[in-house]
Amino acid sequence: MRGICSATFTIPSFLFIVFLVQLLVRKKKKEKTRYRLPPGRRGWPLIGDSFSWYNAVAGSHPPQFVQQQVNRFGKIFSCSLFGKWAVVSADPTFNRFIMQNEGKLFQSSYPKSFRDLVGKNGVITVQGEQQRKLHGIASNMMRLEKLKFHFLDDIQLVMLQTLNKFDSNQVILLQDVCRMVAINLMVNQLLGASTETEIKEMARLFSDFVDGCLSLPVNLPGFAYHTAMKARERIIRKINKTIEKRRREGSSEGGNGVLGRLLEEENLPDNEVADFIINLLFAGSETTAKTMLFAVYFLTQCPVAMQQLQDEQDSLRGDWNGVGMLAWQDYKAMSFTMCVIDEALRLGGIAIWLMREAKEEVVYQDYVIPKGSFVVPFLSAVHLDENLYKEATTFHPWRWMDPANQEKRNWRSSPFYCPFGGGARFCPGAELSRLQIALFLHYFVTTYTWSQLKEDRMSFFPSARLVNGFQIRLTKRHVTDSTLPSQN
Ligand code: HEM
Ligand SMILES: *[C@@H]1O[C@H](CO)[C@@H](O)[C@H](O)[C@H]1NC(C)=O
Repeated sequence: MRGICSATFTIPSFLFIVFLVQLLVRKKKKEKTRYRLPPGRRGWPLIGDSFSWYNAVAGSHPPQFVQQQVNRFGKIFSCSLFGKWAVVSADPTFNRFIMQNEGKLFQSSYPKSFRDLVGKNGVITVQGEQQRKLHGIASNMMRLEKLKFHFLDDIQLVMLQTLNKFDSNQVILLQDVCRMVAINLMVNQLLGASTETEIKEMARLFSDFVDGCLSLPVNLPGFAYHTAMKARERIIRKINKTIEKRRREGSSEGGNGVLGRLLEEENLPDNEVADFIINLLFAGSETTAKTMLFAVYFLTQCPVAMQQLQDEQDSLRGDWNGVGMLAWQDYKAMSFTMCVIDEALRLGGIAIWLMREAKEEVVYQDYVIPKGSFVVPFLSAVHLDENLYKEATTFHPWRWMDPANQEKRNWRSSPFYCPFGGGARFCPGAELSRLQIALFLHYFVTTYTWSQLKEDRMSFFPSARLVNGFQIRLTKRHVTDSTLPSQN
């Protein structure tokens, strides 16, 4: 089997485990090279720097290990990770270069256990021509007009269904709520609205599936990975049924989610449809849930920002369409909220790093990167670089209002701010996730105020679910509150 390396955004812990497993079965390849490799140390044989790496990333300041190495060796250095030669970069220009050369000099690839779970025919796991095709479809499915005409209202319906049910004084574990919201969003957006029992059933399956992505890849009863595989099958069966039904009845029946639109507008072979949907499910759940969680967490620690966000959201309770829901103009008017989201993405580190493999020997500046090496663009190191961001580890959403930061802020092209990656694998869900998070914040802060119950330490890694807990006590706000415009 060809070497493993991997891209990782939401599931570094899972991949770490996988790497260790792979490490035990991989034969070490010895290769002498005549070129100058990026400087670094080899660490312990086999284990190498894996544990320092893991500890650093598991800590509250992920790039610490990277920072130490950068101080010693420079922004591009090498180390031994998971038994393999790895080149790690905290250099914004090189990171950009790696992402821009996806499919050419570099490529992302995943362990087999992961590919089996998310599907071999999905955009995340395929390469080359097929990746470009599926990426195009994904981008099309989530482009701006679709957000305006389909997602905007659907997202709000989900928020009303999921966020409205808490009572005053109720204590909630915020990460569980965010995850529940994210899963319900996925059920709604991917499969379309259906009956309540069906939503419940699919939410259960989606949740099992996502759990499996975050755990040890053991395909035996009792293990989360196994449960996830079963969930995957049932999700596929459901999708297959939808396809059949649509074909049989010749109607546009297929739900009004991405699946329905996909069947209507695109010409994807039947056996690729399910993997396509499941890939979106995987890529869009934990990322969105975690960003929501971090946004609320940081706001709770920063009352001034909290107040400003609440004021902005309260001012948006205009009733554009007569059903009490926000319109696109409202979304466009959330300028401070967007600063909060950008800051949560910068500081929270949802995609801490990406992992690539060198497809061939790559020469960059004075360095030569041997074919087959891991290549790790460490996005968080750039996002938390004191030279780029003043008080980089402080939550300061106002920094994004500074005119001097506007170019830096452009998350589609900025080398200094790339929470959604870049190049050929740039997140096709970027715009959608921002809309989801903004609407979540709207419904959350206009419905409740809250106080944190105990001082929990949040870890940025590996998954917010695994952290002690962010417990808050909710208080329901009254719509007749004098600070709010009246609502009918
Ligand atoms: C705050 C939320 C999100 C963040 C931070 C995020 C971040 C990222 C990043 C960094 C990548 C690039 C991975 C790589 O280059 O290896 C990526 C890819 C991807 N994202 Fe997102 N994402 C988010 C939400 C979403 C949502 C909501 C969806 C869809 C429902 C989505 C779908 C995808 C897909 C399909 C890919 C793979 C694209 C490809 O390989 O061609 N993401 N995301
Ligand atoms: C779903 O449909 C595809 C394509 O027709 C087929 O290859 C696959 O076996 C089906 N899977 C299930 C679980 O029904």
